[in-house]
Amino acid sequence: MLKSHSCGELKKEHIGQTVNLAGWVDRRRDHGGLIFIDLRDREGIVQVAFNPEISKACHEVANRMRSEFVVRVSGEVAKRPPGTENLKLPTGEVEVTAHDVEILNPSRTPPFYINEDVEVEENLRLRYRYLDLRRAGMRGNLMLRHQTVKFIRDFLDAEGFIEIETPILIKSTPEGARDYLVPSRVHAGKFYALPQSPQQLKQLLMVAGMEKYYQIARCFRDEDTRADRQPEFTQLDLEMSFVEDEDILNLLERLFITLVKTIKPDMKITEPFPRFSYTDVMDRYGTDKPDLRFGIELKDLSDIAAQSNFGIFTSAIADGGRVKGIRAPGCAAYSRKQLDDLNRLARDCGAGGLITIALGDAEGGSLNEMTHDMIHSVAAKFLALEQVKEMAERMEATIGDLLLVVAGDASTVNVSLGALRQEIGQRLKLADPDRFAFAYIKNFPLLRKNKETGYWESEHHPFTRPWTEDEPFLDTSPGKARGKHYDMICNGFEIGGGSLRIHTAELQRKVFRLLGYTDDEVEERFGHMLEAFEYGAPPHGGIALGIDRVVMLLAGRETIREVIAFPKTQSAIDLTFNAPAPVTEEQLTELHILLREEEE
Ligand code: AMO
Repeated sequence: MLKSHSCGELKKEHIGQTVNLAGWVDRRRDHGGLIFIDLRDREGIVQVAFNPEISKACHEVANRMRSEFVVRVSGEVAKRPPGTENLKLPTGEVEVTAHDVEILNPSRTPPFYINEDVEVEENLRLRYRYLDLRRAGMRGNLMLRHQTVKFIRDFLDAEGFIEIETPILIKSTPEGARDYLVPSRVHAGKFYALPQSPQQLKQLLMVAGMEKYYQIARCFRDEDTRADRQPEFTQLDLEMSFVEDEDILNLLERLFITLVKTIKPDMKITEPFPRFSYTDVMDRYGTDKPDLRFGIELKDLSDIAAQSNFGIFTSAIADGGRVKGIRAPGCAAYSRKQLDDLNRLARDCGAGGLITIALGDAEGGSLNEMTHDMIHSVAAKFLALEQVKEMAERMEATIGDLLLVVAGDASTVNVSLGALRQEIGQRLKLADPDRFAFAYIKNFPLLRKNKETGYWESEHHPFTRPWTEDEPFLDTSPGKARGKHYDMICNGFEIGGGSLRIHTAELQRKVFRLLGYTDDEVEERFGHMLEAFEYGAPPHGGIALGIDRVVMLLAGRETIREVIAFPKTQSAIDLTFNAPAPVTEEQLTELHILLREEEE
């Protein structure tokens, strides 16, 4: 080893010792006679002093050093002269007096500052990711990711799970996205599909008798990239035999509580994790992944609204719809522009519009003191004072609040108020940044009808087991069957999803038929699963957690790109390698591929 110590570990205890260090020049300062460099390696930074009176040769080499040069230094750890300590730095009480130094490799001037916490355009960071990862924050994110995955592995090992790798070159696994395909050279015209998840493989491992399996699995989905979505991402994939859903959920709850307490001991975590049914969470929060760090629930005002003279309310109810609302605390004095923005958000979610009711102005006060002329709303003249008070009471509002009310069909009302709740939460910073609010959502419908095609689609995936008591609905009204599917959510993100699985060929065939597959298609695509189910498949179930999203939340970052070493851009490009890229004619020929001219 060129180094005896890491830069970041040197402290008072090392004073007087001779050390060999190696790393990058973080910063160089020339103080006339003395040159100082901050030497950086993975563990941190230490100051190195080059004194021409101690070594003229070293001082001359230091004179040639620039940021990001790779250097090796030998020297003695010394106490910094009084008044020059840097208490912000863990090594700030000491410095190394250089006796010997060597430039191992110079560096061009980097395209952005590595030693400063400045905003850098993301594409530039991705193009030079190896430089971006030298920055302390990014290095910290990768360390956190390592610790998280190691914690998960140790935890599951202690729980009797075994880690098994599954293939990347397989056949299409439906998870709702497009497949990435890999052409076969050996079998002309045939393709492997990269797994959207190891779903079928982990089920086959249960048929194989593994009982408790997990894997840190790479998954591939050709879908639009977003802040929390990448074309390739990592799941903690887990499957167990002979379990009920709560066995899996309790295990994961223990895992996450101990993970947070070990890795992020300063963060708060809401425990136990609440369980919501899908209908309940949609009704109360308007989304199946609400941020539960703040309240503001959706309240049904239909009974009060039905008594009003406001046509928008009464006609929505006459059409079988609902009128619901939320309170925006202290927002009564919102400007026209602020109200217009909220209105647009509601419309973007499909609502006909948003009715805002400002209670007084920004000043607070008891509802009892409210008079009709304190109500500011287009609906004011159609609503009696008592009706507004009753609505406000139901929403737990006071004077100074703004009521946001939407009328229409139940699902549009929920979805638009869910988006407004999230928006108000963000504007008013209602969510505690130091808390993790996990929850489970259960009892999703097994199937939903695709309004365009008229076909049933799986709410989760086709392998999810329906509730036993709901199985008869599959023959009569499939939309009524509930699935044994559950999601894990945290702070407004879906972290994971899983289910108990179908383990008999007969039931699995029935579900495939409902999804519109012909018997031939089922045989061709899923024959291997149905066959396996005929050789003693145990009842089983599992879950998959998005590791990138978990680490993003632990790191307090806003996109998963910040916790992935080499992520793709929003348009699925790898800027470091500049992939995807064209290939040679020879490669195409070998793969039996003829490219079509791209149409204009
Ligand atoms: P699902 O499709 O819900 O379930 O995925 C599980 C979790 O994986 C994460 N995730 C993603 N993360 C980043 N980028 C993506 N493109 C992406 N897609 C999904 C999310 C999500 O909650 N086979 C089932 C699991 C099972 O039934 O056991 C599955 O993959 O955090």
